[in-house]
Amino acid sequence: MRRPIIDLAGASRIYDLGRVQVPALVDASLRVDEGEFVAIIGPSGSGKSTLMNILGCLDRPTAGQYVLDGTPVEELDDDGLAFVRSRLIGFVFQSYNLLPRTSALENVATPLLYQGVPKRERLQRAQAALERMGLGDRMDHEPSELSGGQQQRVAIARALVTNPRLILADEPTGNLDSKTGEEVLELFHELNDQGVTIVLITHDSDVGVRAGRQVHVRDGRIAA
Ligand SMILES: Nc1ncnc2c1ncn2[C@@H]1O[C@H](COP(=O)(O)OP(=O)(O)OP(=O)(O)O)[C@@H](O)[C@H]1O
Ligand SMILES: [Mg+2]
Repeated sequence: MRRPIIDLAGASRIYDLGRVQVPALVDASLRVDEGEFVAIIGPSGSGKSTLMNILGCLDRPTAGQYVLDGTPVEELDDDGLAFVRSRLIGFVFQSYNLLPRTSALENVATPLLYQGVPKRERLQRAQAALERMGLGDRMDHEPSELSGGQQQRVAIARALVTNPRLILADEPTGNLDSKTGEEVLELFHELNDQGVTIVLITHDSDVGVRAGRQVHVRDGRIAA
């Protein structure tokens, strides 16, 4: 029996800008079972990143329910959410969100700091993750000293370093050439074969078809 790791039911997210309200996500329901590889596909502005923020507990829905790995997130306070995020999820953000003026190695090691991993092990694991992403010769570079595609691969290394059960990746190949993008998709498949649940967000249906299942988002709504 498969069991849901993501169970979102009737969730909406309305951004309240005072004069206008932006319904970025409307009545969205999504179930992802442990071990699945799902692509969320939709055009720019359709609500993909809004959805990812909710799935990753970085934001809360303004209506509806979200149960993550069996836990209703509305029952968790901010510390509880931070704990769940740190233990369960590896994030690849659309804009990378790397720490500026901080080496690639330190960037990748940071999630392990929040897990209380000792320094020596942190650096060893960060180095291995960067080498896996083909960045063994860029470990001492700061984000401003790396190309966009290299920064994206540092962000992917940072998502993998904690061995998360769930990876949420927002346009992880958006800034990569086709060969490197292909390698990242293969890596995600390898991780998925090892049991890691993958949610990959993309506007590119050629990338989306590589997942086991496709979920389409349009105008804040998940297509049935
Ligand atoms: N913080 C915010 N405040 C107000 N509106 C927002 C905010 N974030 C997103 N929006 C709006 O919500 C809608 C969905 O945005 P979102 O970033 O989720 O789209 P997306 O599908 O990720 O787009 P892209 O492919 O360009 O990254 C858009 O209309 C956007 O303008
Ligand atoms: Mg987005």
